Amino acid sequence: MINIKSEREIELMQEAGHINYLAHQYIENYIKEGITTAELDKKINDFVTKHGGICSCYGYEGFPAYTCISVNDEVVHGIPSKRRLKNGDIVKLDFTVRKNGYESDMTRTYIVGTVPKEVSEFVNHVEEALYEGLKVVKAGAKIGDIGNAISNYAHKYGYGVVEELVGHGIGTNMHEEPEVPNFGEKGKGMTLKEGMTLAIEPMINMGSKDVSMLENNWTIVTDDESYSAHFEHTILVTKNGYVILTGE
Ligand code: MF3
Ligand code: CO
Ligand code: CO
Repeated sequence: MINIKSEREIELMQEAGHINYLAHQYIENYIKEGITTAELDKKINDFVTKHGGICSCYGYEGFPAYTCISVNDEVVHGIPSKRRLKNGDIVKLDFTVRKNGYESDMTRTYIVGTVPKEVSEFVNHVEEALYEGLKVVKAGAKIGDIGNAISNYAHKYGYGVVEELVGHGIGTNMHEEPEVPNFGEKGKGMTLKEGMTLAIEPMINMGSKDVSMLENNWTIVTDDESYSAHFEHTILVTKNGYVILTGE
């Protein structure tokens, strides 16, 4: 069942989403060569807790950390560890913040130091792909329109669009119906309705779209070891467009 959120519920999601946004702003200053991903994880949790939120990834289906931190060819669900960031890494911070019973989900890809121009362009293009997907969102549009917009944009540059993982509805649960794939056909799939809240999250590889799971049973990596980038916002579908709930 797809939940249409009331005004009050939307306010609560925006409150959770704002903390998520602020935590991303805060952590950006610490993304430097030498810091470990476990240190970033702890800093984010401390920040979120101080602001009255809960890092709800912790314990979700047994996930062992507060945040998902995935480096370079790791696509999603990287487990924070003693791994130290190096100049030239790209690092994805993906986490959910829960407050007053409502969830928010946001991801950004950060660059450590300097990377080759084609890598920084790749990261910018993946952020742009998220906005290409958002552009088509409004009541009456179809789920397939979103994935179609995202994958068309990514394919222009020859990137691989990951198909095994998808965006999702979100609300009192981190993952709700419907699924929001990053590929699809225009005009196909469920109709978007005013008051739906969705996490839209392109996961795109610089090389092939193929991915596998590591032996830790969490982390997804690219098969060709190419870089992967990921951006995610939690949004509200409105009559004429959308509102970002993980924002200022
Ligand atoms: N934040 C992820 C998403 O975008 C879900 C992480 S689940 C966890 O859907 F268990 F790995 F935290
Ligand atoms: Co997420
Ligand atoms: Co998500």
